[in-house]
Amino acid sequence: MKAREIRKAFLDFFQDRGHTIVKSSSVIPHDDPSLLFTNAGMVQFKRTFLGEERRPYHRATTSQKCMRAGGKHNDLENVGRTARHHTFFEMLGNFSFGDYFKKEAVEYAWDFLTGVMGFPKDKLYATIHEGDVGMNLGPDDEAGGYWARYLPADRILHFPTKDNFWAMGDTGPCGPCSEILIDQGPEMGCGRPDCRPGCDCDRYLELWNLVFMQFNRQASGVLEPLPKPSIDTGMGLERTAAVIQKVPSNYDTDLFAPMMAKIAEVSGYHYGGNGEKDVSVKVIADHSRAAAFLIGDGALPSNEGRGYVLRRVIRRALRHGRFLGLHRPFLNEIAVAVMHAMEDAYPELLENRNYITRVILHEEERFNDTLDFGLKLLQNEIKRLQDDGSKTIPGSLIFKLYDTFGFPIDIVTDMARDLALMVDEPGFNELMDRQREQSRMFWKGSGEREISEAYRQLSAQGVATVFRGYESLEVDSSIIQAFPPVR
Ligand code: GLY
Repeated sequence: MKAREIRKAFLDFFQDRGHTIVKSSSVIPHDDPSLLFTNAGMVQFKRTFLGEERRPYHRATTSQKCMRAGGKHNDLENVGRTARHHTFFEMLGNFSFGDYFKKEAVEYAWDFLTGVMGFPKDKLYATIHEGDVGMNLGPDDEAGGYWARYLPADRILHFPTKDNFWAMGDTGPCGPCSEILIDQGPEMGCGRPDCRPGCDCDRYLELWNLVFMQFNRQASGVLEPLPKPSIDTGMGLERTAAVIQKVPSNYDTDLFAPMMAKIAEVSGYHYGGNGEKDVSVKVIADHSRAAAFLIGDGALPSNEGRGYVLRRVIRRALRHGRFLGLHRPFLNEIAVAVMHAMEDAYPELLENRNYITRVILHEEERFNDTLDFGLKLLQNEIKRLQDDGSKTIPGSLIFKLYDTFGFPIDIVTDMARDLALMVDEPGFNELMDRQREQSRMFWKGSGEREISEAYRQLSAQGVATVFRGYESLEVDSSIIQAFPPVR
């Protein structure tokens, strides 16, 4: 099955079971200042889970554009180093808003995986929440009981809160969850004698997470029960494609083939070993998708918040481009391959092709200027140090280059190695830690205005705005409610 067939099969399966197919929301959660990016399929339904927004359906299914780079769910540093991690990825999901709960969620997942995808039943495992005294939750025997209809007891595993309790962020909907893993065989594993489900390696691969949404976590940490227990699930399209296509990594699937081919064309390097250059190819492939989708959904490179993550992603890709010998702008060309690869599901990317490529190209040119400028500054400073007889590049200089000019630390390390100098990494790390702590303190959300409580209440009663501007320029309307101005 090609990725596009998996996506379709998933949506069709749930549509046949009474779910409405809902379009992916933007990867930028424009109305949720508590989140950096849309990090899961449930984000667009957050207010529905909380009972603040009514929808004309109780069951939904989506293929959602997601980004995990920064914030609670952050995979940025792992990208390129593993076969599975991504910043941007697609999450397939089915949702119940106070309709079905654990029993059907387990049944649907089992039927889809074994019936539609044809995964071997004897290779599947399920995990359940083992309970948590601090949360006043017992072991999830209910979910365990449903799994016992399909799986022997030794393939139903109990995991603690850190693995089997899912939350979208520090606040908001959350609940215990049940994960489905597939044993890909020892050849995909780490070879350690204690390798078993839960191991970080690729042998027991987590395919799908079924979240039993039961709580709304308050800023104080208190878990308030949701109006109705609900279901939120998430299955990674890229990894599911890798398993069904029997390839060792997500980057070997048809989803990534156009980007891999384009990277080979522009760099002359063909992906396919396990060396450092392959890490660079994977980083570029991943980040080209992130950049295209983020810009397509309205982000622009900047020095803070979402724009800063976008800038980091683009610059990281360019830095890896240099490892492949690419000194000219190239990422905008890889982004065009992303647009073609995603044409079926996300035609809006190609529609905005000129805009997206122009933004990337501009950032590429800026970064190349930064590198030229930073290199000159660094060379002058190094000469001064050498004249003074010093053998160490101070952490404060590396931090200034990085923080003020966005100059990457590994270029400094490379230069130091060539000149037989040392790098004050502890000093640099200390300044970085201090800066991280400060940005954490200053992050006050994305800057969008939070939806006011008054509006939430009205919207929960089913009151919605009706746009009349296409038919007339004036309308009579009644005031339903008025709120006193804040003094
Ligand atoms: N919302 C479920 C997940 O992201 O795993």
